[in-house]
Amino acid sequence: MDTVRYQPRNLLITGGCGFIGSNFIRMLLQNFQDSLPEIRICNLDKLTYAGNPENLIEIESNHRYQMIQGDITDSTLVKHVLKDQQIDTVINFAAESHVDRSILDSTPFVQTNINGTQVLLDAARRENVKCFLQVSTDEVYGSLGDEGFFTEETPLAPNSPYSASKAAADLLVRSYCHTFDFPAIITRCSNNYGPYQFPEKLLPLFIANAQRDQSLPVYGDGKNIRDWIHVSDHCRGILAALQMGRAGEVYNFGGCCELQNIRLTELLLEILDKPKSLITYVEDRPGHDRRYAIDCSKAERELGWEPEVDFEFGLRETVAWYLSNQEWIDHVCSGEYREYYNRQYRQDS
Ligand code: NAD
Ligand code: DAU
Repeated sequence: MDTVRYQPRNLLITGGCGFIGSNFIRMLLQNFQDSLPEIRICNLDKLTYAGNPENLIEIESNHRYQMIQGDITDSTLVKHVLKDQQIDTVINFAAESHVDRSILDSTPFVQTNINGTQVLLDAARRENVKCFLQVSTDEVYGSLGDEGFFTEETPLAPNSPYSASKAAADLLVRSYCHTFDFPAIITRCSNNYGPYQFPEKLLPLFIANAQRDQSLPVYGDGKNIRDWIHVSDHCRGILAALQMGRAGEVYNFGGCCELQNIRLTELLLEILDKPKSLITYVEDRPGHDRRYAIDCSKAERELGWEPEVDFEFGLRETVAWYLSNQEWIDHVCSGEYREYYNRQYRQDS
């Protein structure tokens, strides 16, 4: 394993009020205060439906943290933030992240995920940022059959408007490394689970529904496979890539935990002590990728990283978190999300 090559100091985190970004900021300020004593974090977040400042309530008053509400596509704002805050490191979490929404309307996906990344890259290049980390996804590789794993060499073959926009952003990052010798790293991770995930995604949605004895809408035959990783393992991986990764490289992260959606749903119902009769098979997601599975041996070899959280332990802990944070769920489920839910699952009211 390599030693630390890089210590971030003035860090711009985009999309830090979302699921993974907020877990990452909390991890840095609560678990790494000794090894990163100098770090200052500026969180630039547009606060879309998925961005919730409540996710960071415990660290709001930390003198090393500040939040700016703003859009990564706003080049004037981004330039000022980089200059004023003397940013040396950018981690780009900001994105439209939900596949189903990208099928309903891809416009914000192209704007934020592609144009936003381009704005950040140009500004970071002009301001001589020392390291730029693009948080990407295994979905850029497309879908696997029964065998095999995605490696960093797997050709990009995105299938949804969401994954196409993430792949486009990855290619922009790659081109800046190649053309301008720009110091960027790309990480690609599988499906995250854990606290503070917006309840449009499978796990928090099914926990919230089961708790209210509402049906769990499983798409298609339920046999699609995802590789689940605890968000804390993903966050450790991002920090490891930032500190020990090589510029111009891609690093995959996965949880080594492949599960069919139906098996995951049954496990969840067992933990919640709810009947299987809550499961309802619904129309499949158009273009639904069948299987994702990650080979993360490069991250193990070069970053000394491997997933640590046992899935069943992590799942039980995650369920317990949602059950004891009903107020958080009620807040994020209000307003726009209700309309989206009714449209997606065709319900009245
Ligand atoms: P999320 O939807 O929970 O959060 C996205 C955040 O970005 C929100 O706070 C939102 O307000 C902010 N945002 C959106 N558009 C913005 C804009 N134009 N300017 C500034 N902020 C904006 O997403 P997440 O699940 O936390 O994912 C974070 C990143 O990780 C994304 O880039 C996603 O593609 C990637 N990723 C997610 C997973 C996963 O399982 N959730 C897995 C691999 C990679
Ligand atoms: O693989 C990484 C990706 O994981 C990230 O890049 C995305 O940002 C993140 O949203 C996630 O994408 P998925 O589409 O895999 O996640 P989602 O939670 O939407 O769905 C997980 C699986 O569950 C998928 O096979 C679709 C299925 N599903 C989902 C929902 C919301 C259902 O069967 N029913 C549902 O209601």
